[in-house]
Amino acid sequence: MTTKKDKAVGIIGIGSYVPARAVTNKDMEAIVETSDEWISERTGIKCRHFVAEDEHTSDIATRAAERALKDANLTADDIDLIVVATATPDMLFPSTACLVQHNLNAGKAAAYDLSAGCSGFMYSIATASQFIKTGLYKYILVIGAETLSRLMDFTDRNTCVLFGDGAGAVVLGEVPEGYGILGVHLGSDGGGGPLLSLPAGGTRIPASEESVKNRLHYIHMEGNEVFKFAVKVMGEAAVKALDHAGMQSSEVEWLIPHQANIRIIQSAAKRLKMPMEKVIVNVDRYGNTSSASIPIALEEAIHDGRIKSGQTVVMVGFGAGLTWASTVIRWHHK
Ligand code: UT7
Repeated sequence: MTTKKDKAVGIIGIGSYVPARAVTNKDMEAIVETSDEWISERTGIKCRHFVAEDEHTSDIATRAAERALKDANLTADDIDLIVVATATPDMLFPSTACLVQHNLNAGKAAAYDLSAGCSGFMYSIATASQFIKTGLYKYILVIGAETLSRLMDFTDRNTCVLFGDGAGAVVLGEVPEGYGILGVHLGSDGGGGPLLSLPAGGTRIPASEESVKNRLHYIHMEGNEVFKFAVKVMGEAAVKALDHAGMQSSEVEWLIPHQANIRIIQSAAKRLKMPMEKVIVNVDRYGNTSSASIPIALEEAIHDGRIKSGQTVVMVGFGAGLTWASTVIRWHHK
């Protein structure tokens, strides 16, 4: 019996969308008791963007997807599947991916959401790429999109200064042998779930006067504990994806970590012995956009020419679940 060799799968188009409204640390000072100094020193964040009243996760996901399709020289008709990674879907159901499928008029596309917190984009890449590897699908849109501003407690300074809204999208397709996704690592620790959660609004605590009064419809986070987890897991996860690819960190040109906190990013770089010049950072401009942070950073670095064809990029994220995920890609420019 002959075995068919897996196809090489990579990113063949990329786009991002960040809403227009920029909110600086000074603006946050008017909302909660905080300071530009505290936020800058502890997190590296200077600014974040929030959606407009009439802008929803599916809208910004659609904008990013349109840009990715254009970049790939494809139309919505070409797309076989849409996967949206989000922790802030428009609704519990239907999925945000189905709303995007309708917005794009992607007639033949299947669609589903994937929930893995800030690791969602990496989980989605790993999952979606299998459909192309096996030959079932040809082109897949993977989108990380979040409107965290809608679910932030603006009376809680521990969380509301950290997050921002945005979306990043890629089109996955076949690439020449030796390019594209070379290694993947995914992990989870459900025991750490309570450290970062949105407790109410699901079936465990449906909306009630009590749940609203207790502010259970907002993001809750034990920041310190998540910080310790992130510092430990980021470097480890990146090394595991490199192991899977049969590579060392010395062979990597670029590191794209989840943009949560500059101190977490610096510790991951140190663990991988990578100088900060090789690390893509935009947490200062967008804050933590959860599943959108890695594709937005990747898009910027591709389109401003930092990442070049043939270079190796490690992307690594962590987040609610708890989850972590990493991917090694060799960039292929059409
Ligand atoms: O995508 C995954 C999502 N989550 C994360 O990535 C978050 C990971 N965690 C972190 O980034 C950090 O733990 C934080 C930025 C959340 C907090 O930084 P920290 O250095 O761990 O500070 P802390 O929690 O130990 O708080 C230090 C102090 C506290 O005051 P006291 O108790 O020492 O008097 C806080 O009340 O800073 C205070 N504080 C603030 N002060 C001004 C907390 N938030 C603020 C604020 N402005 N916004």
